Amino acid sequence: MDIELKDLEVEVDDKKILNGLNLKIKKGEIHAIMGPNGVGKSTLSRVIMGYPDYKVINGDILVSSKSILEMPINKRSNLGIFLVYQNPISIDGITERELIKASLDSKNDEKKTLYEFVLDLEHNADTLEIDKKMLHRSFNIGASGGEKKKNEILWALMLKPKFLILDELDSGLDVDSLKVVSETIEEYLKENKDVSVLIITHYTRILDYLKPDFVHVLKDGKIVKDGDFSLAKLIEKNGYNQSFDIKG
Ligand SMILES: Nc1ncnc2c1ncn2[C@@H]1O[C@H](COP(=O)(O)OP(=O)(O)O)[C@@H](O)[C@H]1O
Ligand SMILES: [Mg+2]
Repeated sequence: MDIELKDLEVEVDDKKILNGLNLKIKKGEIHAIMGPNGVGKSTLSRVIMGYPDYKVINGDILVSSKSILEMPINKRSNLGIFLVYQNPISIDGITERELIKASLDSKNDEKKTLYEFVLDLEHNADTLEIDKKMLHRSFNIGASGGEKKKNEILWALMLKPKFLILDELDSGLDVDSLKVVSETIEEYLKENKDVSVLIITHYTRILDYLKPDFVHVLKDGKIVKDGDFSLAKLIEKNGYNQSFDIKG
């Protein structure tokens, strides 16, 4: 999916968080946005997804050159945008299986039989090393941080997103789980060459697995530096403040 963020200005709670952010992501590209805590990375992910608390006061978000600003969250989701949250939500009273089935049904793509759906779900759960009992429990209730992230990835993969946003995927995941999850995502990307990814992170750990084509640094509400994987490595070595002084 082609996505373009154009001169984006975003306010949350009457506070300007993004201020003239520009970013172009083409089909099949992996981009990483890096920046220290509180700089507005999660804000960026939520505004792309369409959360109403995040007010776009200027600029535009384009998918295949068409503005999606007027689209509510569910329409953006139907377009193929999927956000894996930094802190996944829990929902009491609906099981993971029911939740994923309902969200697939509301997309009304090619309809699978219930049997095909269950096979696919269980296959993906196996790949992600998710205990199948989980699928029949209330979504994310009582799950550990790492299990929650895996459940979100399972949901994402079942919906076959065209643009996947991963907000601090590695938070809560231990080293082994991060490896399993990253490899599963890599496999999905290999099979679906048009899918674009935005990795939001303040650590470089995840980037060792899902190698970004482009790395951007967010500061003062905008992208202040662009580079490739070596920029992430530079930040790892020198920290954000030092790296900014090195002009690219
Ligand atoms: N829902 C919200 N209500 C009020 N302030 C928010 C909300 N979401 C984010 N903010 C504020 O926006 C700023 C950026 O937060 P965030 O996007 O979460 O940063 P990051 O993900 O880079 O750590 C912070 O000052 C935070 O307090
Ligand atoms: Mg965040």
